[in-house]
Amino acid sequence: MKVKHLVVAFLCMLGCCACSSPKTEVKSPDGHIKMTLTVDENGTPFYNVSVNDSLLIENSKMGFVEGNGVILGGGFRIEKTTFDSKDETWTQPWGENKTNRNHYNEMAVNLINEDQVQLTLRFRVFNDGVGFRYEYNVPNVDSLMITDELTTFHFRQDGTSWSIPASAETYELLYKQQPISEVETANTPFTFKTADGVYGSIHEAALYDFSEMTLKQIGDYTLKAELTPWPDGIKVRKSNHFTTSWRTIQIAPEAVGLINSSLILNLNDPCVLETTDWIRPLKYIGVWWGMHLGVETWKMDERHGATTVNAKKYIDFAAANNIEAVLFEGWNEGWESWGGMQNFDFTKPYADFDIDEIVRYAKEKGIEIIGHHETGGNIPNYERQMDHAMQWYTDHSIHILKTGYAGAFPNGLSHHGQYGVNHYQKVVETAAEHRMTLDAHEPIKDTGIRRTWPNMMTREGARGMEWNAWSEGNPPSHHVMLPFTRLLSGPMDYTPGTFDILFQQTKDSPRRRKWNDQDKGNSRVNTTLAKQIANWVILYSPLQMASDMIEHYEGHPAFRFFRDFDPDCDESKALAGEPGEFVAVVRKAKNNYFFGAATNEAPRTLEIKLDFLKPGKQYKAVIYADGEKADWKTNPADYQITEQTVTAENTLTVRMAAGGGQAISFIQL
Ligand code: NOJ
Ligand code: CA
Repeated sequence: MKVKHLVVAFLCMLGCCACSSPKTEVKSPDGHIKMTLTVDENGTPFYNVSVNDSLLIENSKMGFVEGNGVILGGGFRIEKTTFDSKDETWTQPWGENKTNRNHYNEMAVNLINEDQVQLTLRFRVFNDGVGFRYEYNVPNVDSLMITDELTTFHFRQDGTSWSIPASAETYELLYKQQPISEVETANTPFTFKTADGVYGSIHEAALYDFSEMTLKQIGDYTLKAELTPWPDGIKVRKSNHFTTSWRTIQIAPEAVGLINSSLILNLNDPCVLETTDWIRPLKYIGVWWGMHLGVETWKMDERHGATTVNAKKYIDFAAANNIEAVLFEGWNEGWESWGGMQNFDFTKPYADFDIDEIVRYAKEKGIEIIGHHETGGNIPNYERQMDHAMQWYTDHSIHILKTGYAGAFPNGLSHHGQYGVNHYQKVVETAAEHRMTLDAHEPIKDTGIRRTWPNMMTREGARGMEWNAWSEGNPPSHHVMLPFTRLLSGPMDYTPGTFDILFQQTKDSPRRRKWNDQDKGNSRVNTTLAKQIANWVILYSPLQMASDMIEHYEGHPAFRFFRDFDPDCDESKALAGEPGEFVAVVRKAKNNYFFGAATNEAPRTLEIKLDFLKPGKQYKAVIYADGEKADWKTNPADYQITEQTVTAENTLTVRMAAGGGQAISFIQL
């Protein structure tokens, strides 16, 4: 063969190679984020993510392992790659932002292996991050037992991270700031900042009928997906055709960009409910904090909290203070045996809680009642009663439900495994049938399903206020960590607003009991009073609680903020902040704006431009600030309220004490 022919043959080979490895990369609409897929010589898929042409995540494995030997993670070749784009805006009945833009480029890579397993890897790249998911179709089998997920997140370089350790049972853990390389295990949202200054957060979107994904260090800056197993070690049981939740990485040049992103919601499906006019954000108080302080009890005894008399007092207070709803815990039989395998009866009120009279009274005063189903973890007991118990509530005009799972599930089943995920979803769907809205405590983590199921309004899923009542409490950094971690997943029912910070009025109460060994009797809230107020804005929840007992609000000038506060916001913006250090957020509700800023142990001053206000309008700014001598440790209750008229042209100096904060309501004049 002549040299010329050899060259032609070589070029042809090159050309053929190029044909057999089609283009497998996709960029964000603005071009600054790129995802690439490659398949190695074993047919295992790998992905890369780069930001501004610099690799963020490199050579990261994809796939699953199946217990009966079906190959879900290798032997693949690419059959076809298709591209798509979307740019739409959509609205929701409530949320941090009622209107959201969903703007992405998509790449779907169809792969097939020798077992004829068809796998579509779907990548969506937005200007604020990426999402990818697995869509499997496995012929000749009925079911699959997934024993491992192979997905890794291999960072090109080390960085700082903020997360809680992985746990199959609880998210009520303290956040750690540590190098990515030193993380052993983590739950998501796992927030990070690389040495290049890129902020990001790994999480998942649209988690249904699967177990949750946590992360485990496998070295070389690599975190591997770990799925919470069933008691027999199988991670997930699926039919031969399944789609995973989206594995997501939010990406932003600044930490607040993560908060301002709606990527998690964009990766969820549109609302499936026919009507949503029965779903509305509101403020509430509750017969609640007294129990955590040990001043009142859930069970019926001489200190019982949920009595008809107390209920009416709370309803009166709500009606007088522009608060729409009241929660009652400890209203039903079953609390006597707290701590064992609970057997609550969800339709049997205690004898001193006259539900008919309370409902009648609440109606007369225009107040909603928030019901409570504490399961103690006994899911079979709850599932037996759930439908009927929700019907019973709605028959009593109760349309808002707080659920609770404080206790282990039976038979070694986990809160965060596939069984748990399916249970929590069953509650959401059953509640929707009864037109009930939900606030879940000890929930499965939020993955944005509120877009599809907007009756799933808020949840706990992190250390909330309750921890201050009976433990060393939540440190000042906790509240400025949550917006950059837990709250990226969705709203949180933290229950802010305890005004009796040192429990002065309850500590020496003869009624107060220590109720566990963790309770050293010296518990307190670890913030200033102004920061408690700011948290009503910062810690977004469409059902927002004022947590304290009402006697601590009676006549308190600073409670005016909660009276004025509108939880039904239209738009939100995080203005400034760093994880665990500080944050400043503003929310617009109708014509008014509510601002909240908070700091960790360090005092801090921020210059806040009011250019978020509507130009040309005047606003009365009511400022709830730390007092001159305020300090979360030594002088937490020192606060001051001032008023001034402002416009969008002004800048305010926001001074915050150590462990302090500031809240401002801007009322349009
Ligand atoms: C834990 C929940 O977080 C809390 O709000 C509730 O009061 C108790 N469980 C009792 O249900
Ligand atoms: Ca809890």
